Amino acid sequence: AFRAAIFDLDGVLVDSARLHFVAWKQIADELGIVFSEHDNEALKGVDRMGSLDHILALGGLRLDVAAREELAARKNGYYLDALATMTRADVLPGALSLLSRARTAGLLLGIASASRNATMVLERAGLSGAVDFVADAGKIARSKPAPDIFLACASALGASPVDCVGFEDAAAGVSAIKAAGMVAVGIGASDILAEADLVFETTAQVDLDRVLRLSS
Ligand code: BG6
Ligand code: MG
Repeated sequence: AFRAAIFDLDGVLVDSARLHFVAWKQIADELGIVFSEHDNEALKGVDRMGSLDHILALGGLRLDVAAREELAARKNGYYLDALATMTRADVLPGALSLLSRARTAGLLLGIASASRNATMVLERAGLSGAVDFVADAGKIARSKPAPDIFLACASALGASPVDCVGFEDAAAGVSAIKAAGMVAVGIGASDILAEADLVFETTAQVDLDRVLRLSS
């Protein structure tokens, strides 16, 4: 049986993608770069600097490290302003019951988010008490699709990777889970998340019994 379930946060448990989009859109507007909601899809699961680089490439803009760091910090300021308005209402449908069913099934629960704001997002969403461990993205060397953050979670929870199941809405995240040697559950479109062992369209549709049967 599985010992631990490790969840991505943005797009799996919390509806925060919109807040990230609005903050990046503000930066793009300030730079005169056209940036649509469609463009934003490519930023799912991508870390802060990687996201900025993607937007700069859209605009064909080349900036030095100092300018890029200033923009990334400015975006985070906008995001933190928006985060102040986040409440329990921004928890995705089914997320709370998924966490409590997993806990009732005897699993330890971890969060493997690329966001350096993960702890604050969990607090705003009222989910802090619902999980056992939150990985610190700032201390992880290689971002998704590298397995590092999922392995850090497993290790902190005292679980061997083969005894873990990971949940992700981003293709890079599913790749990270598989690279960690874990069972991967995708949340979203099955063509985009083809590498996952099992895919559900939304968090609310996750059938935990089917997931638990994937345990080796
Ligand atoms: C991921 C989000 O979880 O975290 C991305 O899907 C975001 O959109 C990334 O860019 C980094 O977040 P933060 O809060 O560290 O800027
Ligand atoms: Mg995500």
